Amino acid sequence: MLTGPPQVRRLLPGDEEQARTAHAELADEGFDFLLGYDDGEDFPGYVARLAREERGLELAPGRVAHTFLVAVADGELVGRVSLRHELTPMLAAIGGHIGYAVRPAFRRRGYATALLRAALRTARGLGLEQVLVTCDETNTGSVAVIERCDGVHEDTVELLPGHAKRRYWMATGGSPSSPLPG
Ligand SMILES: CC(C)(COP(=O)(O)OP(=O)(O)OC[C@H]1O[C@@H](n2cnc3c(N)ncnc32)[C@H](O)[C@@H]1OP(=O)(O)O)[C@@H](O)C(=O)NCCC(=O)NCCS
Repeated sequence: MLTGPPQVRRLLPGDEEQARTAHAELADEGFDFLLGYDDGEDFPGYVARLAREERGLELAPGRVAHTFLVAVADGELVGRVSLRHELTPMLAAIGGHIGYAVRPAFRRRGYATALLRAALRTARGLGLEQVLVTCDETNTGSVAVIERCDGVHEDTVELLPGHAKRRYWMATGGSPSSPLPG
């Protein structure tokens, strides 16, 4: 059930309470909602750091510039997506350009699909014609989201026995409308 398209935008200091809740919920599943967030870090400071990282400033060793966006529906922070602006060897092998997560209570409403499409538009705005998106072979939901967005399966890489990643390439040119505000 889709209650309406979410607004996809950058994280704001006023999102603190819901973002902290989302971070705790995803941590229970072994995922990070707030990427790179240090426990106890000042939240407005984290938001400002994300803005610097988007511009390629003050990146930790081995990290690349990324755009971090959240989806908001009916006033609820429902999910997030991160778009890496380039690939490192590790990202090219495993992590890909884009990672997303939706809070458990808001799944199966099309929000991951909306987040992935927003990240594709953002990638296109950055001049990326194709992006790599990967997911665990066993992650049925993510496989469906990627294939719904026309991901082209390149290969499946076995990282460890019983742990395989599916790697997909995706064109960013499909829906150039609705660019995100600068
Ligand atoms: C995977 C995840 C992002 C999907 O988010 P979502 O908002 O529920 O996805 P969508 O609603 O856009 O799903 C689109 C379609 O994918 C399929 N799908 C989604 N979740 C599914 C699931 N658990 N099982 C089977 N199909 C699923 C469905 O076909 C769905 O459409 P439908 O609900 O109309 O049938 C979410 O489950 C999540 O955050 N999981 C934890 C973090 C994670 O795995 N991130 C991805 C890392 S690669």
